[in-house]
Amino acid sequence: MKIDMKKVGAWFDDRLALTPIFKYMTKKEVPQHEHSIWYYTGSSILLFLAIQIVTGIMLALYYKPTLEGANDSVGRIMTDLPLGWLVRSIHSWSATFMIAFVLTHLLAIWFTKSYRKPREATWMTGMMLLVVSMVFGFTGYLLPWDDLSLSATKVGTNIPNAIPVVGKWVTQFLRGGDDVTGDTLTRFFLFHVCILPLVIFAILAVHILLVQKEGMSVPLEAEVKKKKVPALPFWPNFILREVMIWLVLLGTLLTVALVFAPTLGPSADMMAPAPAGVKPEWYFLFLFQTLKIFPGNMGPVTGEFVAVVLILVAIVAIFFLPFIDTKPEGKKGRIINYLGVLGLIYAIVFSIWSLL
Ligand code: HEM
Repeated sequence: MKIDMKKVGAWFDDRLALTPIFKYMTKKEVPQHEHSIWYYTGSSILLFLAIQIVTGIMLALYYKPTLEGANDSVGRIMTDLPLGWLVRSIHSWSATFMIAFVLTHLLAIWFTKSYRKPREATWMTGMMLLVVSMVFGFTGYLLPWDDLSLSATKVGTNIPNAIPVVGKWVTQFLRGGDDVTGDTLTRFFLFHVCILPLVIFAILAVHILLVQKEGMSVPLEAEVKKKKVPALPFWPNFILREVMIWLVLLGTLLTVALVFAPTLGPSADMMAPAPAGVKPEWYFLFLFQTLKIFPGNMGPVTGEFVAVVLILVAIVAIFFLPFIDTKPEGKKGRIINYLGVLGLIYAIVFSIWSLL
């Protein structure tokens, strides 16, 4: 029987609405100006997310989320499976690259002020994506189940404990009991490979749809003066540039993963005291140091409580930033810029301090 490929193509086109999508892509344009380089940060995150999914599925085929099997199975992936060590290294490094690009994307949007009307919801879904990405990192850190990952998880899951009323419950919910045990490992595995992927895809779908709906932002000056900004066709010009950037990033990721493969300590001993110098992942360091500088007691409450409340207030304020800074020009906008620079300096200094 001869298959008529044209008919097959038309069948898929009909069901999946491929022609309207293709037409939309050929019509879509990306503004070109002095800040357009930052448009590539969003798609770079998508690249790292795709790498996380592929390498994550490969690792999950052999990983065992049990107290007895976790550390051993990671060891087996690294030594017994062909290029297993490289897959693990790429997964670990791509997580770092992804978070670094999410933070760069956020800072670029902060300073170009693209969060303003009508992109408030894009910003807020972005903030949710940042939190989910960090929780991905936090839950993944425990999975190799060595002394370092166990102690870091003990410290991390203990932080909500400082919040009165609900704190104890949150810590117990995260741990699946009073302490970090095999139950925590099962729970973190479920979060890491099932719940968080579902959540990130749902939020990401809204984020990308909003970007399509509003189109890309243009510099403030052009927006205020209603100046026409030159634009590049999305297909094929912008996509081709994007692919070039992806290839450079892939090369960099592969080089770093080949040279600096992560190690694995022996299986965690739950009875052993915490090893000296327990540190979380780099993107949590400044928060970790913030918690450390507060004194044990501050009047009727603990220092940790004050620190946790301050951090939560800052996160909520950043989440609602588009409603705080609304005017296209003016003093408030400049203050937001200074606050951005100050926040960046604070995060860098506190991260370095926590390593000393
Ligand atoms: C998993 C994380 C994320 C992914 C995959 C992602 C993806 C994207 C993509 C592909 C775009 C369009 C291209 C671009 O402007 O770069 C975009 C735009 C945007 N993103 Fe994200 N994003 C993420 C996180 C964030 C975060 C953390 C924020 C800020 C809190 C944010 C806020 C925005 C805004 C406001 C735009 C519109 C920018 C404009 O029109 O100029 N996103 N995002």
